[in-house]
Amino acid sequence: MEILHGVNLDQLGRRDAGHYGALTLAQLEERIAAFATELGLEATCFQTNAEHAYVERLHAARGTVDGLILNPGAWTHYAWAIRDALEIAGVPAVEVHLSKVAEREAFRRTSVVRDLCVATVSGEGADGYRTALERLREALG
Ligand code: DQA
Repeated sequence: MEILHGVNLDQLGRRDAGHYGALTLAQLEERIAAFATELGLEATCFQTNAEHAYVERLHAARGTVDGLILNPGAWTHYAWAIRDALEIAGVPAVEVHLSKVAEREAFRRTSVVRDLCVATVSGEGADGYRTALERLREALG
C-alpha cells in the first residue's frame, strides 16, 4: 500500500495544531509505519508539493501497488487532474484528512476524489491512517 500526501503536508508541525495535530510529517509517517506493522501490512509513504509529481505517482501506482491512501491536502477540493489520475490508477483507494473537513470552511466540503474512493476518513488525526489501512485491507479482501 502507498500513502500519498499532497500539498503543504510537509509543513505539519508548523500548521494549526487544532486542526492537524502537532506531529511533523516525519513523525506521522513513523506512526503510519507502526500502524501498518501492527496490522501486518506493508506501507510506503510519499509527499510532494508538485501536482504533476502527485499525478505521476498515481500513474505509476497502476499495476505496482495494491491500494492507495490519499491525503491530497487542498488539492482534494479542486484538482480535477488528480481525480483523473486516480481513475487511471484503477486501484482501491481511501481518502484521509487529519481534520474534520465537513465542519470547516465551505470550500473544504467538496472532494473531487471522494466518489472514487472506497472510504473517507476525516477528523481522526493520525489515528485516521490506522482506520484507513483497516478500510483498505477490508476492500482488498
Ligand atoms: C487536509 C484538509 C485540507 O482541507 C487542507 O487543505 C489540508 C489538509 C487534512 O488532512 O485535514 O492541507 O487534507
